[in-house]
Amino acid sequence: MNRSNSPALRASVLALAAGLCALAQAAPDTHVSNKQSFATDVIYQVVTDRFVDGNAGNNPSGAAFSSGCTQLKLYCGGDWQGLINKINDNYFSTMGITALWISQPVENIYAVINYSGTNSTAYHGYWGRDFKKPDPRYGTLTDFTNLISAAHAKGIKVIIDFAPNHSSPADPANAGFAENGRLYDNGALIAGYSSDPSGYFHHNGGTSFANLEDGTYRNLYDLADVDHNKSTMDLYFKQAIKGWLDLGVDGIRMDAVKHMPAGWQKNFMAEVYGYKPVFTFGEWFLGENEVDPTNHAFANTSGMSLLDFQFGQRVRQVFRNGTKTMVDLDAMLDSSATQYKQLSDQVTFIDNHDMDRFQVSGASGRKLEQALALTLTSRGVPAIYYGTEQYMAGNGDPNNRAKIGAFNTTNTAFKVIQALAPLRKSNPALAYGTTQERWKNADIYIYERKFGSAVVLVAINRNLASSTSISGLLTALPNGSYTDKLTGQLNGNSISVSGGAVPTFNLAAGGVAVWEYKPASYASPLLGHVGPMLGKANNTITVDGRGFGATKGTVYFGSTAVTGANITSWEDSQIKVKVPAVTPGTYAIKVAKSGGAQSGTYGDFQVLSGNQVSVRFVVNNANTALGENIYLTGNKFELSNWSSSNPVGACFNQVMHAYPSWYCDVSVPANTALQFKFIKKNGAAVTWEGGSNHSFTTPASGTGKVIVNWQP
Ligand code: NOJ
Ligand code: NOJ
Ligand code: CA
Ligand code: CA
Repeated sequence: MNRSNSPALRASVLALAAGLCALAQAAPDTHVSNKQSFATDVIYQVVTDRFVDGNAGNNPSGAAFSSGCTQLKLYCGGDWQGLINKINDNYFSTMGITALWISQPVENIYAVINYSGTNSTAYHGYWGRDFKKPDPRYGTLTDFTNLISAAHAKGIKVIIDFAPNHSSPADPANAGFAENGRLYDNGALIAGYSSDPSGYFHHNGGTSFANLEDGTYRNLYDLADVDHNKSTMDLYFKQAIKGWLDLGVDGIRMDAVKHMPAGWQKNFMAEVYGYKPVFTFGEWFLGENEVDPTNHAFANTSGMSLLDFQFGQRVRQVFRNGTKTMVDLDAMLDSSATQYKQLSDQVTFIDNHDMDRFQVSGASGRKLEQALALTLTSRGVPAIYYGTEQYMAGNGDPNNRAKIGAFNTTNTAFKVIQALAPLRKSNPALAYGTTQERWKNADIYIYERKFGSAVVLVAINRNLASSTSISGLLTALPNGSYTDKLTGQLNGNSISVSGGAVPTFNLAAGGVAVWEYKPASYASPLLGHVGPMLGKANNTITVDGRGFGATKGTVYFGSTAVTGANITSWEDSQIKVKVPAVTPGTYAIKVAKSGGAQSGTYGDFQVLSGNQVSVRFVVNNANTALGENIYLTGNKFELSNWSSSNPVGACFNQVMHAYPSWYCDVSVPANTALQFKFIKKNGAAVTWEGGSNHSFTTPASGTGKVIVNWQP
C-alpha cells in the first residue's frame, strides 16, 4: 500500500497542518502551552465517574457499582476513556471549553461504606489511598496520558483535583471500618489511622468548624487527617504531585485548603513552582454573604488562587434565588477587586458538586443563561460544572452529581458558552481588564471590561417580565455601531456609540447583550497577568499581556531591571523571565518595551529566600492578657523581617499545643540559620520577647519543629 496516497492519512495530515496553523496564529498568552495563566481559558469541571463510561471493562463489580447510575453514591462507570471520547468528538471544543478539571485521579479506597443504611463509595475521588497510583476505575496510566495528549491536541488543558488534606474515612473506635484511612506509597503501606506509630495522621477528633485552627488540625468529618508537619507526609505529597506534573498535567485544584496549614501549603507551592509551575487554585468554601479576610490573605500570599465563592454565592443570590439585587452584585464586584490582589486568577462559577445545581427544576432557563453570560464576561477564570450547559437540576449531594444524560449542542445555554468562551481569548478586556459599573438598578446591570483600548460592554436585565429604557449610558467604546456578540440569543440589541454615549435604547425583558471593541494592535505595553506570583531567584515566570513588541526589552522587579539572557523568551503577548536574585520580599512587576514605553505594574510578586520547608514554631509559657495574641517574627522575609506591624500569625493555642503554649506552621527557607522571636500583640500594642533572639537551623528538606520558652 502506498501510504502517502491513503486518503485517510492525507486527510489527517491536512487536519494536523490546519491545527498547527491555528496554533501558530494564536497569541501565545492564549495557547494551551501556557500553564501559568488560565485567564483566557474556560474550565469545565467534571465528576469523572459521572461523565462518560468509555470502557466498561474498568467498572467495579458488585455492591460498588450502580448500573444505570440510579444509586448516586455508587460508581457509575465514567472514566478517562469517556473523556477522551468526548474530547475527540469535539463536544468541548464546540462549546469553547479550553480546560477540563477532572476528579482527583489518584487511587481511592475500594471499600463500600454503609452510612446509615446507604452504601457509599469513593466515586467522587476524595478518598485517596495511594497518591502515586492512578485510580483503576478511571483507567490505567496509559489512559491518563492518552487523556492528556488527546486534550492537548485539541488545545485543552487538564487540571487535576488534589486532596492531600486527608486519606479516607476512618473510625477511631473501629479499625475495621472502611479501610481505616490506610495510605500507601506506590503500594507500600505508610500507615492506617488505628496503627499510626509515627503519628502521620492527626488524632484530635472531628472538627466542629469553630475556627481555622480547629478545622485544620482535626478531622474533616470522618476523614483521616494528615499531619503535614511530618517529613514523611510532606515528601510523599511533594513526590506525588511531581509524578502527576511529569505526566503533563496543566493545573491543580487543591481541595480543602482551609483545612490544611497555610504554611505547609506555601512550602508545597514553592516546590511546585520551582519544579513545573502550573496554575493552582484552592477550594476555600464560603457561604452566602460570607466575607473572610483570612480567605483573602490566603489567596494573596499562599502562592495559589481560590475558587471565588464570594462571586459564586452572590451570582446565585441575584440570578437563581432572587434574594439579592444587581446593586448587591455590583458591590461584590467592587469589594472583591480590592480584596484579591490577583483578581484574574480567582476561579468563578455558578454551581459545583458541593451546592445545589443552579438550574431549579421548572424554573426559566433564562436565569442560568444570564448567570453564565455574566460569569463568562467577568473577571476571573470561569469554571462551568458539567451538565449545567444541559440545564441539569438537582439539589444537594449526591443529586447534584447525577450522570450527564444529554450532549445537546443546540440549546441556548450551550450556545451562550459557545459564543462567549472564544471572546476570552480574542478580546483581552475579558481576560485581563478592569470592571466598571456603567448603569444599574435592582434588575439591570451594565458593566464594562477594559484593557487598554480593548473594551467589552455587557448589559443584563434579570427581570424576565419587563423591558427597561436605558438612557444616559456612557462607555469607552469608540464611535460606531455594535452588534450583540450573542447574536440576539438572549434578546440583546445592537447599539451605536457617539462621543462616549449610547443613545437611549430598550433592554429587552430577560435581555443580555455583549458589545466589544478591540484595536488591531497595541502601541504601548499592557501587563495583563503574571504567574506564578511566588518563587525563588532563577525560577522562570510567565508574563502575559499585549504590545510588548517583537524585540526583547526589560522586565522590572521593583527597580531591578532584568534583561538579556535572563529573559528566556519575548513575544508581543508573552514574556518568560527569570526571577532576579534581589533581596527577598514583595515586588511589583512591570514591562518596558525595547526602546521605551513602560506598562503599569502588576503587584505583589513574592521573591522567596530560597527553597522552602515547613517548620512549626512553638512557644511555651506565653501567657497573654485578654485580647492579646502571640505572633512570630524573625530575620527573613518569610518571618516578616522583624516586622511587628505585620508579623506571622496569629499563632494557634488549642489543638496541637494548648495555651499557654502557641504554635505557628510557617514556610521558611531551607537549610538556613534563622533568628526569631515571638511577640504579644493586641491591635497596635506590641510586647516583644526579651533576651536574645532564638535561633534555629532549618532542615534542607522535610519538615522542622522548634520549641522555645517565652522570654520575659
Ligand atoms: C471539598 C470537596 O469539594 C468535597 O466534595 C469533598 O467532599 C471535601 N472537600 C473533602 O474532600
Ligand atoms: C527587635 C528585637 O527585639 C530584637 O531581638 C531583634 O534582633 C531586632 N528587632 C531586629 O531588628
Ligand atoms: Ca468505565
Ligand atoms: Ca487538616
